[in-house]
Amino acid sequence: MSGAAFLDIDRLERVFGGGRTLFGRARPGVHAVREVTLDLRRGETLGIVGESGCGKSTLARMIVGLDRPTAGRITLDGRDLVAEARRDPRALARRIQYVFQDPVASLNPRRTIRAILEAPLRHLRGLDGAARGRRLADLMEAVNLAPEHLDRYPHEFSGGQAQRIGIARALAAEPDLIVLDEPVSALDVSVQAQVLNILDGLRERFGLTYVFISHDLAVIESVSDRVAVMYFGHLVEIGRVADVFARPRHPYTRLLLASVPAPGRAVAPPEEGEAELPDPYHPPPGCPFHARCPRRSDICLTAFPPRDSAPGRADHLSACYHPEGDD
Ligand SMILES: Nc1ncnc2c1ncn2[C@@H]1O[C@H](COP(=O)(O)OP(=O)(O)O)[C@@H](O)[C@H]1O
Ligand SMILES: [Mg+2]
Repeated sequence: MSGAAFLDIDRLERVFGGGRTLFGRARPGVHAVREVTLDLRRGETLGIVGESGCGKSTLARMIVGLDRPTAGRITLDGRDLVAEARRDPRALARRIQYVFQDPVASLNPRRTIRAILEAPLRHLRGLDGAARGRRLADLMEAVNLAPEHLDRYPHEFSGGQAQRIGIARALAAEPDLIVLDEPVSALDVSVQAQVLNILDGLRERFGLTYVFISHDLAVIESVSDRVAVMYFGHLVEIGRVADVFARPRHPYTRLLLASVPAPGRAVAPPEEGEAELPDPYHPPPGCPFHARCPRRSDICLTAFPPRDSAPGRADHLSACYHPEGDD
C-alpha cells in the first residue's frame, strides 16, 4: 500500500454561519477552512501547524466525520468519507479515531476507565466479555498504565495519564488513522516526551497513520514525516519536515520558525500591527498574509497565490507569489 494516497483531501471548505437573519439581513460567515488540498500515505505522520484560529481543529473534525465540509471532498482508500460518515458512522469510527487536546475533559467523569475503554470494544468491535477483558489488558499495556487503574475515575489521573487513556480509547477501535489534535499541548514539557514516545511506539507496532496537529514547531519536527502549514484557513506550505524547516518557502513559515525561542537567540518582538491576523469576518483580498509580509508586492492583493513546487523538490509546495529561496 505504501506510496498510494490513503487519505485524499481535495479543495476542502468549511464556512460557519452566514446566510440570513430572521429579518432577512445578511449574516457574515466565518470561512474556517479554505480550499485545502493534501494527501496522506499509509504509515506516515503528517504534522499540521499554524496559529490559534487558523482552522486546524475544523480540518481535523471533518477528517474524523465530526463535522461536514461545506464543499470539497475527502476520500479514504478511494471512498467518499463524508458519505461513509452519514451511511455508517461506526464503520468510519473503526478506521479513523480522534484524540482531543484536553485529556481530562475528553473523558466522561462519571465512568471508570474500564467503562470508557469497554464502550468502543463493545460497540465498534462487538467483542464479548472475555475478549474485552483480554483487550483491556493489552490496551493498558500499550499505553504503559497498570491494570489496577481500570477501576478508577478520570479525575484521579494526571494530565499525562489521562491523555494515555485517551490514546488507549482511540486504539480500542483498531483504527488505521488517528487524528491527534494538540495531544500534548496541555501537558508539562517533561510529560510531553513520554506521551510522544508512546505514540511513536504505537505507530510502529500497529502500522498507524497519524495526522498530528500542534502549534509547537519543536513537537511537529520531532513527530512528523511531512508538515502542512496553515494560515487563515489556507494551507500555505507543505513538504517534508526537514525541507520545510531548513528551507521554508512561505514568508509565514519563516516568521513562525523565527519566532521560536531558542537558547542564546533573542526573539524579535513583532512590530506594531504585524502580528495581527486578518479579521475573519472581513477577509482581505488576495493573499491573507500580505499585510504582515516583508516580500509583498501589488500582485499579492489580486488573488490567492497558486501552489508551486520548490525548484528540484516536487513534493515541497507553497502558495506564494514571492517564495523565499528563489532569489
Ligand atoms: N462551530 C463553530 N462556529 C463558528 N465558528 C467556528 C466554529 N468552530 C470554529 N470556528 C471558527 O473557525 C476558525 C478556525 O477555528 P479552529 O478550527 O478551531 O482553529 P484552530 O484549531 O487552528 O485554533 C476560527 O475563526 C473559529 O472562531
Ligand atoms: Mg484547535
